Amino acid sequence: LFTDVELAAPVVIFQLTADYKADPSDKKINLGVGAYRTDEGQPWVLPVVRSVEAQMAIDPLLNHEYLPILGMPSFCEAATQLVLGKDSPAILQNRAGGVQSISGTGALRLAAEFLFRFYNKREKSTAVYVSSPTWGNQTAVFKNAGFTDHRTYRYWDADQCALDYKGMLEDIENAPEFSIFILHGCAHNPTGLDPSHEEWIGIAEACKRRNIFPVLDCAYQGFASGDPDVDAWSTRKFVELGFELLVCQSFAKNFGLYNERIGNLCLVMRDSPTLSRCRSQVELIVRAMYSNPPNHGARIVATTLSNPALKQEWLDNLHTMASRIKAMRHLLHSKLRSKGTPGNWDHIITQIGMFSYTGLNASQVEFLRKRHIYLLSSGRINMCGITTSNIDYLVESIHDAVTS
Ligand code: LMR
Repeated sequence: LFTDVELAAPVVIFQLTADYKADPSDKKINLGVGAYRTDEGQPWVLPVVRSVEAQMAIDPLLNHEYLPILGMPSFCEAATQLVLGKDSPAILQNRAGGVQSISGTGALRLAAEFLFRFYNKREKSTAVYVSSPTWGNQTAVFKNAGFTDHRTYRYWDADQCALDYKGMLEDIENAPEFSIFILHGCAHNPTGLDPSHEEWIGIAEACKRRNIFPVLDCAYQGFASGDPDVDAWSTRKFVELGFELLVCQSFAKNFGLYNERIGNLCLVMRDSPTLSRCRSQVELIVRAMYSNPPNHGARIVATTLSNPALKQEWLDNLHTMASRIKAMRHLLHSKLRSKGTPGNWDHIITQIGMFSYTGLNASQVEFLRKRHIYLLSSGRINMCGITTSNIDYLVESIHDAVTS
C-alpha cells in the first residue's frame, strides 16, 4: 500500500542539531537551532521556572485532569495581557482573548486553520505573504491549512545588510486587497532586523490602505530588549490603529520552555460578541485536531505572570539572557573588526534578538562546517551558541572563510 511513498527530505534545522551532536570534535560549535545557551554552552532552565516547578510538585491541589479545550483560562488571560498590555482597550472592551496553543507553531496552525475557514475568499484563495527571508515553517503551516497562494514581501536588503523598507512598502501597496501578511512582532527570524517605530507606523498605514489582515508572529517577546513591553510595541500599535488581528505567542524562548509546547493564539476582534463566536469556532478546530492542550507549561507561565514577585524574577531571568546575547554581539563585532576581517560587520550589533544574519554565503557556511561550526546555509547564526570560550575559534574561522 505504501511502497511508492517517497522519502521526505529531513527538516534542515533539526538535522543540523543531529549532525552537531554526532560530531566528535571538541571544537564544534552549534549556531543552528534557536535555543538559549549559557556562557558554558549549556541549556538553561530559568531559576524562576525551577522554583515554580518545585512548588507545583508538592501542591496537593494540583491534578492531571483535562484542561478546557481552549486551554487554562488564567494562562490565556495572562498571555494575552503580556502581549497587549494589561490596560489595552481591546482587553478592557472584552474583544481580545487567547486560546492556549501547542507553542508558537501551534498558534500559527490554529490561526491558519481559522483563517482558511472563515477569512479565505471561497472562490479564489487569499494570498498569504511572508517576509523574504522568513522562518521556513510559516509557509508550510499555511499550506497545510489549505492556502494555495503563497507570496513574499521584500524585507532584507542583502547589499546593505539592512531592512528593505521601501521594497516592503511597495509590496504591501501592490498586494491584492485583504491579503494576509505574516509579520514578525519583534526580533525578526532569521535576520534579527526589526523596523524602527516610525517604519512600523508606515507599514501599518500601508496595511490599512490595502485592508491587509495582519498575523503577528511573536515568538521572541522579551528576548530582543529584555523588556516584554518594549518588544510588544509593534503589536500594540496595530491594535491601537484599530486592526482586527491574530497574534501567535510562544513561551519556548522567553521562558526556556522549549519542549513543553506552550503558546497562545491571541485574537483581537471588532467587538465582544465577535470574539466569542470566533473563539467558539477555534474550540471546534482544537477539539478535532488534538482535543485539548497539555497543562504543565501553562501552569508555569500562568503562576509566574500572575504573581508580582515571580514575575519580577522572570523579568530578571529574561534580562540575563538578553544581556548575554547583546554582550556576544558586541564581542563578535569587535573581534572581527580588530582582526581586520573583510566586510562591514556593523549589522551584527544593529540586529537584535537571538539571531544574526551574518551575510556569510553558502560556500562560506560550507567552509565553516568543515571547521565543525554548524549554521544554516542562509548564514543565520544563533548568537546564544557563542561563548567567551569558543569566540576566538569562531572569529578565526569566519576570517578564514571570508578570505580563503
Ligand atoms: C529556529 O528558528 O531555530 C527555531 O524557531 C526552532 C525551529 O523550530 O525552527
